Amino acid sequence: MSILKGFVVALRFGMLMLFSLIAGLVNLVSFIFPPAKKSVSGEIALITGAGSGLGRGMALSFARLGATIVAWDINEEANEATVQMIRQEGGKAFGFVCDCSKRDDIYRVAQQVKTSVGHVTILINNAGIVTGRKFLDCPDDLIQKTMDINTNAHFWTTKAFLPHMMEQNHGHLVSIASSAGLMGVAGLSDYCASKFGAVGFAESIRSELRIQGKSGVHVTCVCPTFINTGMFTGSKLKNVAMLEADDVVREIVAAVQRNQFMLVIPRDTAVFINLKG
Ligand SMILES: NC(=O)c1ccc[n+]([C@@H]2O[C@H](COP(=O)([O-])OP(=O)(O)OC[C@H]3O[C@@H](n4cnc5c(N)ncnc54)[C@H](O)[C@@H]3O)[C@@H](O)[C@H]2O)c1
Repeated sequence: MSILKGFVVALRFGMLMLFSLIAGLVNLVSFIFPPAKKSVSGEIALITGAGSGLGRGMALSFARLGATIVAWDINEEANEATVQMIRQEGGKAFGFVCDCSKRDDIYRVAQQVKTSVGHVTILINNAGIVTGRKFLDCPDDLIQKTMDINTNAHFWTTKAFLPHMMEQNHGHLVSIASSAGLMGVAGLSDYCASKFGAVGFAESIRSELRIQGKSGVHVTCVCPTFINTGMFTGSKLKNVAMLEADDVVREIVAAVQRNQFMLVIPRDTAVFINLKG
């Protein structure tokens, strides 16, 4: 009996190694020969948190590729500045003030977008906040808000815009999560929990879409380490190398154009995450 058990364990281990090797080879081949980039010209791309950092960068980049931008932010002035930057370059953009921590506000503004701009075909959930304190020092209302913006908003925006994408079998959901959604980090407990939620939601929706045969609706989940947008200024993070926002934006846009599901930046972080697995 114990010999049989040992044989089953060895067989399972062997299969795990074989599948890991196959997955590694598939990744290597797609790294050497990346899939062709799709056009985003004529798509309607909604970006939450478009008033600064990655949101503004993505809005400008997708507009330069011919997409119509729907910019959402709680900060009206910053959001409008993004819209004006796009228009000055000859792009198309529409700004809406939306508090992504509030479900009713999301549904209300989503309806305005549908009637005044059209159906969103690329939805980028980017708005995010960080408390940046040890867990017991995090005020309850900030923990709640972090979950509302970084995770729950993804549910409500997706509910608002996914049905039309599914009807047309055409669209793209983009979740700007974080490497903090793959590994727990001290001093970022509520942020990590919210980003684990965003990653889990993206993975689940991707599976649901596959099972329902919606091969034309894609999902991209973005997990960068720390970026020099100013979001983590003030957080007591030590010895952390910062990524350049422009580099991250470039990689996100390319991942969307290649329908890549998981984007971990920098790439070598994936090794630690895989070892954890
Ligand atoms: N900066 C980093 O180091 C880093 C690393 C990994 C992931 N991320 C993620 O990338 C995304 C963008 O981050 P960033 O660095 O560009 O941050 P940022 O602070 O520059 O931009 C966030 C934007 O979200 C907006 N926003 C905040 N609360 C909102 C609300 N309730 N409703 C609507 N808009 C709201 C802000 O006004 C701002 O324009 C976030 O989800 C963040 O968690 C950032």
